[in-house]
This record gives sequence, C-alpha cells and structure tokens, in this order.
Amino acid sequence: MRTHWCGELRPAHAGQRVAVCGWVHRRRDLGGLVFLDLRDREGVVQVVCTPQQPAHAAAQQVRPEYVVRVVGEVVIRPPHTVNPKIATGEVEIRAETLEVLNPSRTPPFEVADGDDVDESVRLRYRYLDLRRERMQRNLRLRHRLAKATRDFLDREGFWEVETPHLIRATPEGARDFLVPSRLHPGKFYVLPQSPQLLKQILMVAGVERYFQLARCFRDEDLRADRQPEFTQIDVEMSFVDRDDVLSLVERLVGYLMREALGVDVPLPFPRLSYRDALLRYGTDKPDLRYGLTIDDVTEVAKAAELRLFREAEAVRCLRIPQAASASRREVEQWVTLAVEAGAPGVLHLALQPDGPKGPLAKHLTDGLLDSMRAATGAREGDLLLFVAAAGDVASAALGKIRQQVGAQRGLAREGTFAYAWVVDFPLLEWDDQEGRYVAVHHPFTAPVDEDVDLLESQPLRVRAKAYDLVLNGVEVAGGSIRIHRRELQERVFRLLGIGPEQAQERFGFLLEAFQYGAPPHGGIAFGFDRLVMVLAGEDTIRDVIAFPKTASAVDLMMGAPSEVDEAQLREVHIAVRKPAAP
Ligand code: AMO
Repeated sequence: MRTHWCGELRPAHAGQRVAVCGWVHRRRDLGGLVFLDLRDREGVVQVVCTPQQPAHAAAQQVRPEYVVRVVGEVVIRPPHTVNPKIATGEVEIRAETLEVLNPSRTPPFEVADGDDVDESVRLRYRYLDLRRERMQRNLRLRHRLAKATRDFLDREGFWEVETPHLIRATPEGARDFLVPSRLHPGKFYVLPQSPQLLKQILMVAGVERYFQLARCFRDEDLRADRQPEFTQIDVEMSFVDRDDVLSLVERLVGYLMREALGVDVPLPFPRLSYRDALLRYGTDKPDLRYGLTIDDVTEVAKAAELRLFREAEAVRCLRIPQAASASRREVEQWVTLAVEAGAPGVLHLALQPDGPKGPLAKHLTDGLLDSMRAATGAREGDLLLFVAAAGDVASAALGKIRQQVGAQRGLAREGTFAYAWVVDFPLLEWDDQEGRYVAVHHPFTAPVDEDVDLLESQPLRVRAKAYDLVLNGVEVAGGSIRIHRRELQERVFRLLGIGPEQAQERFGFLLEAFQYGAPPHGGIAFGFDRLVMVLAGEDTIRDVIAFPKTASAVDLMMGAPSEVDEAQLREVHIAVRKPAAP
C-alpha cells in the first residue's frame, strides 16, 4: 500500500510520486488549503491538500488518528515554511488522493502531545500511548538491544536455550506465582523467578555456554524498577572464573552501547568492593556519574570536644563542594532526608571565608579543622555534613543526601553512562525476622576460596564470588560463580538452615545432577528492562515494556487479574477463599 515511510522523505525524494500510509497526527484547515501531519512508525510528514485535487474534500473530513493513505508528489517547501523540528521538515507531499482506510473515535488524549497524560489513562489505552514517538523510540531501542545481544552472544559461542515456565519453585527469594494443575488435583506448577536452576543443569548437561532472553515472574512489592514479570538476559558458562564472566559482560555491554546508541564506553569497568561501596557511597548501587564520596572520619573526629563524636561507632562525612553558602532551608532539607534514612541527626560545618560556621564550629580547634580538611579534601567554600552512628547507617544516610545533591546540581547528567562492578559481597546475612542466615545472592553462590574455612566459625565474614553490575545507580545485572560440588553445597544449605530433607525436597534434582560430573560454572543475569530503561533515559521500566502492569500489579488495558468462571475453577480443583472484609 505504501512506497515510502512518512518519516523517510527528504529533499532527495523531490519530484517523486509516492504513496504513504499512517495516522493523522494533526490537521489544520485554512479554508483553501488543508494541511495534515501524517504519522507512521518512522516519523511525521506534512501533506498539503489543495482545492484542485480530489484529496481536498476527503481531507476536510478527517480527524486526528484517522488511518489514511495518501498519494502525491514530494515537493521542496519554500524556505520560510521549512520546519527544522522534524526530520522531513524540508519537504511536503502535494496530495492527489487521500483515502480514509479507517476513521477513529476522538481519542482520550492527543497522541501528538501525550506527555502529561495520567499514567493510568496511558496504560488503559496503551495502543494509543504506544503510538507516541517516545514510546516507539523505546520499543525500537529495546528491539535493537535484544538483537545486538543475540548477535554478540551467538558470535561468542552461546546457544539460546528455552527453559520452561511451568516448573518447580526456584530460589530467588520472592513470592512465587502458582499455576494449578488440572491433571493433578491439588498440585501446582510455579512460574520461574529466574531460570537459575535450569541453567545450572544445562551446564551439567554439557551446553557450556547458554543464554536466554528469559521471562521471570516474581510476586513482590512493585516499584519503578520492578515488575511482576520482567525479562532477563540470562547467561551461564562452564569452566570459567569470575574474571571470565566479568570480561564477557564488559564486551557485551561495549557492543550493545556501540550498536544501539553509538556510544563508546571505556572498558574495563571500575570495580568496587561491597564494603567500599557502602562506605563511600552509602549504597551497593552507587551512581558513579559524579564523585561526592563519603569519608570515614571516625578517628579524626575523636579529637573533637564532643561526646557524640567520641562515643559513636563511626563518624562519616559528606563534603559538598561550594555549598557553604547553601540556604538554611536547603541544609534542613538535606538533614531531613538523612534522618528519614535512619541517621540520628546531622551536624553541618560550613567553611565560610571568615571561618567555619555551624553547630560544630565551636567544638573545633585549629588543629582538628586541619585534620578534617585533610581527611575530606575540604576547601574554603565547602559544606561538610557529619553523621555519627553505626557505620553503615551513617553512610546510608549521607548517601541519600549525595543522591539528592547529584540530582539538584545536575551532576547525574542524562546521556552519560557510568558502569561499575560491585564485588566481594558477603555470602550470608542475618535475617532477624526469620531468625536465620539467608543468602545475599542465592544459595548456589560459591564462597571465595580463602574464606571457605570461615563458613562455620565466622559465617558473616565469608565473601561470595558474586558480582553486580551497576549503571547510573541502578542494579542492572547480578550473578556469581556457583558451587558445583555437592559437599560444599550441603555445607551452605546447613548454614542457611535448609536441612537435608528440605534440600532434597526443593532442589533434589540439582543435587543429584551435581553427582554426575558438574563442571565449574558461573553466570549472570541482566535485568533487561532496567538496562533499556537507563539507556532510554526513562525513570520507570513501565516505559520500556509494551504492556506493563501498574504498581498494584494490574493490567489496565486487559483488565487482569480478573475473576474466572466457576466451571474453570472446578476444572483446576480450586475453591476461592476471599479475604474477610476489613
Ligand atoms: P537477580 O535476582 O539479581 O539474579 O536478578 C537479576 C537482575 O534482574 C533484575 N530484576 C528485576 N527487574 C525487573 N523487575 C523485577 N522484579 C526484578 N527483579 C530482578 C535486576 C537484577 O540485577 N538467577 C540470578 C542471576 C544469576 O545468578 O545468574 C538472578 O535472577 O536488574
């Protein structure tokens, strides 16, 4: 039906007779002339209908979002009518015929400028929302990244293997989605939280290099970067150690950035230990587009005439360059942020030209001030913020201020991409609620060799061969080298309070497989939606998923979840027990 895309027409096409199809983006009726902006996937072009042509009568009838086909000649626009805002702005089509292929009801919002539309309306009419240029750009970017991923991994010798969606529970730590079995009354399949166990089995199966753009399902509380179903670039490799996986991922990311964005990212990515990330940035997913690091000044601070400092487990300091003259309101706002993040309080010190100011000033001797400056690199004009508390609490609170300042000062610049590895995570953490150790990554993650002997004596000191990839403050991937020997796996299970029977019951098939020659192996999974989100410059993964769910896990377009027929329920042997009214 078409000879060209609307969006591809340029002065080089002048004089050609073309047929284009698309949606009416805007219409201006100047009496004599009718101007239409016609839109397809590739862009918008101006169509002019003059009274001499049959197209004119039809053009008077059309409204936004009508689907039309236009035949006409491409002409160069007179210089004063050139529209530099659109790629086709130097040309227009002089329409001969205009055929309405389908009319449209008046849409609930204008596709032409839908940026301020309430998200629930956008999601309800997702097919209109997806017509918008921004959303089409996101879908295209997502496609390009998926394709480039497949191309790169194929060249590296990876096979894409599909794993089932109807499985037995996997151990990523979220709640499972259940699927009742019709054939086996009272039994359930579980949707995979990730293909973790199956990809490890594929290593035992001799696949050696596996990947999959895998759909994962987790019934957890949703946030801007979480969906109940999401996509991973899931990777597993045999006969590798940590550096092999990191290097592969760096090359993959380098390739994706070049192919999809034309950006060269410097390789290798910086590596931070988990401890350092927490200390210096107050988070295990630091935004490294800017500096603003946190310093540990516990020792220096002990010299202050201040009980608060002397008795604190740690004193941490965030230096904000050239903020000594920050308004009182601004400082108060930072303090509130830190207190909300758990800090007992924040003391500030403004290094004004006429001497230090703020509640700390009177407690500082000249010598102490000098050592503070040395410890933090502070200069005249800077503002120092101190938190005295447990180390991680102090850093986390200052980390919140750090992020805020990064955003306020435009340091977190769009279009810049700062990748970093966070490594040396602890293997275990203590879960107060459950009253037991839990795996920081997952129970199949291998401990660092030097730390294996500490497993029983000092479990919290054992580091894991785990790694996260962080991009602009977002955790975009995580993985580890796995345990591949049954004895070590059983020791870790024991620490996690997973007894032999429970282990057998939950992961028996994996443990059994490990007895038949499991190669050393490891891997990683990208949150593909998150990666696309950051690269697209969006704030939520909903904007890079064609049909996402709301924060309360509802599909507003299809109306899911929904009730089902009693007959359907009976078939799967389910009786619904509704929660009692509150
Ligand atoms: P993990 O649970 O860290 O590891 O998940 C890997 C990456 O998936 C993304 N992610 C999510 N994205 C959107 N919505 C969610 N609900 C969600 N949950 C996680 C994150 C995260 O970094 N099997 C292991 C990987 C491995 O060890 O190889 C796993 O799934 O970006």
